[in-house]
Amino acid sequence: MSTQPAAASLEPEGGLKIPRHIGVIMDGNGRWAKQRGLSRSDGHKAGVEAVRRVVALAMDHGVDCLTLFSFSAENWRRPPDEVRFIFGLLRRFVASDLEKLHSRNVRIRVIGERDGLERGLLNIIDDVEARTAGNSGLDLIIAFNYGSKVEIVNATRAIARKVAAGDMRPEDIDETVIARHLDTSGLPDPDLIIRTSGEMRLSNFLLWQAAYAELVFVPENWPDFDESVFVRALRTYTQRERRFGGITT
Ligand code: FPP
Repeated sequence: MSTQPAAASLEPEGGLKIPRHIGVIMDGNGRWAKQRGLSRSDGHKAGVEAVRRVVALAMDHGVDCLTLFSFSAENWRRPPDEVRFIFGLLRRFVASDLEKLHSRNVRIRVIGERDGLERGLLNIIDDVEARTAGNSGLDLIIAFNYGSKVEIVNATRAIARKVAAGDMRPEDIDETVIARHLDTSGLPDPDLIIRTSGEMRLSNFLLWQAAYAELVFVPENWPDFDESVFVRALRTYTQRERRFGGITT
């Protein structure tokens, strides 16, 4: 059985197609800071402002689902001070923005490995998810300590355990079963993935889910992400012909 890709809706004004689910690889905070003679921390702080902008833009344009890649499993290779700083930014973002997001009906979900995160941060994540679980507006997914290959390994292990326990037969495993065991279970696959800073790769982000996503790479560094960059990416997406392996008739 195959997972049917979701149809994206058409926005009447401007003729822009609005993706149901947008994934964003927020890249270039360090370069943005360096160009201005600032510290990398300043770049990440400016990156949080861009997070606020993209969330508002997604809501204003009627996007259902927004996934932000905010800390990859590979980012542990950075200096400990920088890792600590990014963790602190996430905490502060939650402390300062949660009420507003909640009042705007945003449902927050955090995907990625929980192992290795300190108890305090885990409590914050659990609290944010529980408090916003009943909301029905934008699904905001924060990929934190996330790596797609580990996610697929974990899903494979969970399925193998069910087979070993006799709860599932190998022939029951199909695309739907695998998708249900991923961190993104229940979410539509991304229609559009935007990466900033001119780098052109997925860097272990939503590898399974991005099978038919349109990839749009923009030259701006993440802290410079604003409405004009967002709308340009939507325009590029609108012009793409999505065939999902079929042909145009
Ligand atoms: C990429 O820039 C950015 C990151 C690895 C961190 C992103 C984090 C935030 C924007 C803040 C926290 C997130 C939330 C959801 C509040 P880089 O450091 O790789 O830049 P460079 O490639 O230019 O060095």
